[in-house]
Amino acid sequence: MESIMSTYARLPVTFERGEGAYLYDTDGKKYLDALCGIAVTSLGHAHVGVAEAITDQASKLLHTSNLYNIPNQSKLGKKLCELSGLHSVFFANSGAEANEAAIKLARLYGKSLGVETPNIIVMEGSFHGRTLATLSATGSRKVQAGFSPLLSGFVRVPYNDVAAIEATAKNNKDVVAILVEPIQGEGGIIVPDEDYLTKLRAICDENNWLLMVDEIQSGMSRTGKWFGFQHEDIQPDVMTLAKALGNGVPIGACLAAESVSDVLKAGTHGSTFGGNPLSTRAGLAVVEAMEAGDIKQNAAQMGHYLHTQLEEGLAGLSGVNMIRSKGLMLGIVLDRDCGSLVMQALEAGLLINVTAGNVVRLLPPLTLTHEQADEMSQTLITIITAFLKTS
Ligand SMILES: Cc1ncc(COP(=O)(O)O)c(C=O)c1O
Repeated sequence: MESIMSTYARLPVTFERGEGAYLYDTDGKKYLDALCGIAVTSLGHAHVGVAEAITDQASKLLHTSNLYNIPNQSKLGKKLCELSGLHSVFFANSGAEANEAAIKLARLYGKSLGVETPNIIVMEGSFHGRTLATLSATGSRKVQAGFSPLLSGFVRVPYNDVAAIEATAKNNKDVVAILVEPIQGEGGIIVPDEDYLTKLRAICDENNWLLMVDEIQSGMSRTGKWFGFQHEDIQPDVMTLAKALGNGVPIGACLAAESVSDVLKAGTHGSTFGGNPLSTRAGLAVVEAMEAGDIKQNAAQMGHYLHTQLEEGLAGLSGVNMIRSKGLMLGIVLDRDCGSLVMQALEAGLLINVTAGNVVRLLPPLTLTHEQADEMSQTLITIITAFLKTS
């Protein structure tokens, strides 16, 4: 009898161990991981620094609750604030929870301005999580299906459409914030115009709204900068993180600028596990390793290399619409649904994902080498070419 709820259609493979960019299944077969557990194991599997840190922490202290001081939490909070220019952090256990904190913060901020029913602008095609608030914020009918009544207070506009937001600013006096991914991940690796966030920042300033960036997928060096917003010369008011922050140890974070640092006060929000000694020690080890290895530089360079290799290898192939990327967040956009490529890649020893129906999504480790990038692009070119000829 199956004991696990069938919320996932799992692939027929079981991994036993990992090492760097590779995973090994129970038959000993080796796979190149171009997905990283969906943008999580950015430093690769079984990273020595992370493994040592969590082993050491586990033998000392795992959990005390947030009723007491947690030095690892303070250290990681300080470090993330230094890297982002933000001022304070609430630690959670996942991306959805980090966004819940951001949504609650925006509502309290709105109330402080006298807005009784605060609204948050969210985007079509966005993904913010699976809790009721975050799936209501998410711009996907598939994610929302069956869960009505959804949470109210979200106003949806098309992604990368500044005029739509300007129009909303004129018509809706209840808006208090914008929640936006700097690059849409689940939506199909959609990279907006280069000055998109700059324009959103200006609209937020004019209207006294908060600019809240969801960096759960794009953050932690993935795009070649610590955070995706840093490709533009702006500061957000709120930023959420999760995924790669723990390299596989569950952790989420909601960061706030100084001006809204005190909106979430004692009694307004909390989490039993959030930011416990173990997860924040893992986070510290991740940040240290990313700094020491200049990981964001590697992500930028290897992202460019992989993009170029794929573009050359797929050039002239009818059925490939385009390749979109920033750093090591890449999407190969085909002209047809291509979910079956995941299984074909698996058979060829490569782990990929297909999102938005027709986008092959690559989120490889940020430690990627030229040899691994070559292996990845060669396998992809072979299977995509064969797929387009036969589908
Ligand atoms: C941009 C973004 N926000 C939020 C989430 C939700 O994170 P989690 O699955 O950790 O709750 C995801 C997960 O894919 C994401 O990509």
